[in-house]
Amino acid sequence: MRQKLVAGNWKMHGNLIENQVLLGNLRDSLAGMQNMASAICVPFPYLAQAQSVLAGSVVAWGAQNLSEHAKGAYTGEVSASMLQDFGCRYVIVGHSERRALFGETDEVVAAKFMAAIAAGLIPILCVGETLSEREADAAEAVIARQLDAVLKIAGMAGIARSVLAYEPVWAIGTGKTASPEQAQAVHAFIRQKLAAQDADIANRLVIQYGGSVKAANAAELFSQPDIDGGLIGGASLVADEFIAICKAAQS
Ligand code: PGA
Repeated sequence: MRQKLVAGNWKMHGNLIENQVLLGNLRDSLAGMQNMASAICVPFPYLAQAQSVLAGSVVAWGAQNLSEHAKGAYTGEVSASMLQDFGCRYVIVGHSERRALFGETDEVVAAKFMAAIAAGLIPILCVGETLSEREADAAEAVIARQLDAVLKIAGMAGIARSVLAYEPVWAIGTGKTASPEQAQAVHAFIRQKLAAQDADIANRLVIQYGGSVKAANAAELFSQPDIDGGLIGGASLVADEFIAICKAAQS
């Protein structure tokens, strides 16, 4: 039985004062949560704050990006081992905003995935199609291509140490959620594709859904057989919403 994971993606939001209140609230409110896992992925400057507030609690923390390089002359970049220094458990890799706005190719995403694994972090690998790709009936082909790039260098052994997040680009921050059936169909596709290589690893893999998840739709999404929690953007900035989403993931 897979345990659901609800991870917040704060994106480029927050400040020291607001974070202190929000993180403290989540730490206290999620303390009794059982049979699910939770995490918050904060901007780099707030990793130390997340570590100091959340250490020893049930809420893990992580980052939203990392360098594919281990160290060196890469001005402005942050390595996997630096994230480890701040106690990160997770790092989001290949978010559609990184792919679309910062030119991350499938190959760069795969290299970042490997860098995370090598440092003992759990990458949350995001895959998903744009609206035009969905309308062209290319969603599965796009997702297969994104997965294949990672499989090529990480293999199923790498996938086994990761979390996947299906995030249809057209549902991110738009208020348009994929219907539970639409999301389930893609999650099943992903699991079957990976099961063809290793059924046991595919069966144990946590595959989150992301894209306008909120308290009002979380339970229905999470009740689908292949949806193992969510990657939460906007609603992770509102304590009551995020807590309610975590409750919906308890099973
Ligand atoms: P959203 O973002 O929940 O605000 O749609 C999800 C994400 O981008 O991870």
